[in-house]
Amino acid sequence: MAGPGRIQLVGDEYPETTVWAYEGRVPGPEIRVRQGDRLRIAVTNRLAEDTTVHWHGIRVPNAMDGVPHMPLPPIAPGETFTYEFDTVDAGTFWYHPHMRSHEQVGRGLYGPLIVEERQPIQVDRDITWVLSDWRLKNDAAVTNDFGNMMDISHNGRVGNTVTINGRVLEEMPVQCGERIRLRLINAANARIFGLRFQGHRPVVVAIDGHPVEPHQPDEDRVVLAPAMRIDLVLDMTGPPGNRASVVDDFYPDLAYRLVDLSYGSERLRNRPLDASVRLLANPIPEPDLSGAARHQVTLGGGMMSMMTGAMVDGRMTDMRTMMRSGMAWAINGVAASGPDDHHGSHVIDPIFTLERGRTCVIAMVNETAWHHPMHLHGHAFRVLSRNGQATRFKEWQDTVLVAPRERVEIAFVADNPGDWMFHCHILEHQVAGMMSAIRVV
Ligand code: C2O
Ligand code: CU
Ligand code: CU
Repeated sequence: MAGPGRIQLVGDEYPETTVWAYEGRVPGPEIRVRQGDRLRIAVTNRLAEDTTVHWHGIRVPNAMDGVPHMPLPPIAPGETFTYEFDTVDAGTFWYHPHMRSHEQVGRGLYGPLIVEERQPIQVDRDITWVLSDWRLKNDAAVTNDFGNMMDISHNGRVGNTVTINGRVLEEMPVQCGERIRLRLINAANARIFGLRFQGHRPVVVAIDGHPVEPHQPDEDRVVLAPAMRIDLVLDMTGPPGNRASVVDDFYPDLAYRLVDLSYGSERLRNRPLDASVRLLANPIPEPDLSGAARHQVTLGGGMMSMMTGAMVDGRMTDMRTMMRSGMAWAINGVAASGPDDHHGSHVIDPIFTLERGRTCVIAMVNETAWHHPMHLHGHAFRVLSRNGQATRFKEWQDTVLVAPRERVEIAFVADNPGDWMFHCHILEHQVAGMMSAIRVV
């Protein structure tokens, strides 16, 4: 059930915050199944507007993807729709609306979806952190300035209050010697996290749900763009009574302490667990680069860009006029609106069509001065290279952060028929034109 609710986000000295929530909770209930299980979820809309649920990262059939009119209509207020699909891949996923996402997600509609491996790795605790970012007033109320031009044309709605599982957390109790699998989910509209676990060496074992060669992140900083997930294995190597901060310094002038890991006085074991942290691969078809269809996708727009205009609703429109109607970004020169909001046409014309079963290589070129976490629906892709440099692990992802001026190449087998959204997951960018679709026939 999606509807309004009230929850305690910040300390008890503050009033509760009115949110939009699944089952009255932020994040919504954790859905946990085992790989291969079939999910059946009935969603009732108790909001005053249309909504949908999108199962971010899960490779579902097109009709279950929760993108309005692509192909099914959204869920009207008072109505119920039942989603049903198999979970082919194990990993950390999440769900959220795909209707006016910048406001519906921004007000609290999202939850974790965990698909457990048939053969999980050995850990003492398996913990999920859904990271949210709120823009609150002094009375803890969510500010109503969704979709303002300032946020849209810069780095999106970056807020002033970060919560872990819907609450500002002071500390997380841990035990000396313990091994924790920490599933991080960035459910924020726009905030990118750069997490440092002071005094600890987290090991990345999965990205966007998919196993990766276990490795320590570059500079010991875990970078998590909106919609991304990272699974860490964290050995609690500090002494009893220790306190270690988790600091987020992605935006250097906005660095803050997210939470403290606070050690109890007991010792669970003396040496870290000596068990493999390598996960079994998901059944994703391997791209065949030799026979690949190659496409370029250019990201344009925003403040401080060279873009002078773009196609809006089939008409060439200059930047000034675009901004007046709330548009600021474009993919391959087109600022798309449509399925995710109330204006414009209902569907998006695909930027290209792929033959089913064929490998596709997309070179994304970021011609803007801003970061863009680009997300493809219905598939997982390998990140092949950045600025011509091969990536270390050819990571499987569904959302890849593209830095200003960066060129990122991805590859995937287009094996899932339908029209699939391909958009920036900074939701203010998405609603303002950084959205497209890819057709697989
Ligand atoms: Cu997380 Cu198009 O979605
Ligand atoms: Cu998605
Ligand atoms: Cu963007």
